[in-house]
Amino acid sequence: MSKSVNVAIIGSGVVGSAFISQLKNLKTSVAFNVVYLARSSKEALFSKDYQPVDLATYKTATAQPVLSLDALTTYLTAASRPTILIDNTSNSTLADYYPKFVSAGISIATPNKKAFSSDLKTWDAIFKASAAPGGGLVYHEATVGAGLPILGPLRDLVTTGDKVDKIEGIFSGTLSYIFNEFSTTEESKVKFSDVVTVAKNLGYTEPDPRDDLNGLDVARKVTILARLSGFEVESPTSFPVESLIPKALESVESADDFLAQLPNYDADIQKVKDEALAEGKVLRFVGSVDFKANKVSVGIGKYAFDHPFAALKGSDNVVSIKTERYPNPLIIQGAGAGAEVTAHGVLADAIKIAERIAN
Ligand SMILES: NC(=O)c1ccc[n+]([C@@H]2O[C@H](COP(=O)([O-])OP(=O)(O)OC[C@H]3O[C@@H](n4cnc5c(N)ncnc54)[C@H](OP(=O)(O)O)[C@@H]3O)[C@@H](O)[C@H]2O)c1
Ligand SMILES: *[C@@H]1O[C@H](CO)[C@@H](O)[C@H](O)[C@H]1NC(C)=O
Ligand SMILES: *[C@@H]1O[C@H](CO)[C@@H](O)[C@H](O)[C@H]1NC(C)=O
Repeated sequence: MSKSVNVAIIGSGVVGSAFISQLKNLKTSVAFNVVYLARSSKEALFSKDYQPVDLATYKTATAQPVLSLDALTTYLTAASRPTILIDNTSNSTLADYYPKFVSAGISIATPNKKAFSSDLKTWDAIFKASAAPGGGLVYHEATVGAGLPILGPLRDLVTTGDKVDKIEGIFSGTLSYIFNEFSTTEESKVKFSDVVTVAKNLGYTEPDPRDDLNGLDVARKVTILARLSGFEVESPTSFPVESLIPKALESVESADDFLAQLPNYDADIQKVKDEALAEGKVLRFVGSVDFKANKVSVGIGKYAFDHPFAALKGSDNVVSIKTERYPNPLIIQGAGAGAEVTAHGVLADAIKIAERIAN
């Protein structure tokens, strides 16, 4: 008999499906026993006696109504094995419940940013519950840069006593793509509005591109990085975030109307691009945590042609971590979105938890 853990999976969208398919081919000595799988916010697969959910047929098997979060906690904690909850949603009700799951001894692995980037009180409640005797473990590597190893290495540096000087990076795959296309090392007449439209047509943006252009997703990721490195950020709206949405277009009704009017503002951002080019620089949309300047911010930055951010490709993410030990910054770069890489980040977290809690 090998060690085992119970696993509860909530949400089976793109990431969820990739997660499940990777779970089927797991190369680890700990057995993962999936005892609860919420296929949507309405229906779930589970049995009173914790029989493993059949991962070959979960999409079509007959489901039951989902358990309430209180009932789910009772169900999971009454089992003989410890449980890892995989929150594969972007649901904030679920995120707000984390302190209760963790206090009950349930561990969490998740790509859902909500719990870690809302008010500081929620962050404190989660990690206080986790540190208390009997508290569950909480791993959230995939909340920043999807599957890229960013939070783990950063945590290792900080817990071993290194001092962060500056963290700077491109944390939105969508805005990475848009600026990599719009602002290159060669003079170009490419229009900002055209790049945004192409990105939308390629499926790289949210249904309403303003949900990417407002910078809030980047602000949430920067909030997480700041807190992990010891910078107490109250909320993702408590520091300057530059929105790429022209003021007059903030209240435009539909995404289509927004895109139709965006060309009227191309000249403004083109001017910024041309000025940067004259200085030998490109524009990139970055988030940064600057300890020396005591400042957290999100917005357009200018980078010299030989800077690693200037050479970014496609929709890649990149982060530069400058610390006392790494005065030449540690650079981590690669795909920062996508179901496969996100799922691997979450599953790797689940394995780390399992290796610590399985019995
Ligand atoms: N996709 C990526 O590349 C990527 C990268 C990094 C991080 N992430 C993060 O990964 C998470 C998932 O992303 P996603 O794009 O797959 O989100 P999504 O499309 O919103 O998927 C959410 C899924 O969860 C279900 N759901 C919501 N609340 C639920 C509940 N209480 N119980 C059970 N199911 C529930 C929804 O089902 P119904 O609507 O049918 O009820 C939906 O299928 C997000 O937090 C996202 O930020 C994604
Ligand atoms: C995990 O989340 C992703 C993205 O929300 C979703 O598509 C996927 O189905 C979820 N995984 C599971 C197992 O529910
Ligand atoms: C979020 O989760 C809660 C609790 O399971 C559920 O009641 C609610 O419908 C979910 N919301 C969405 C938007 O899925």
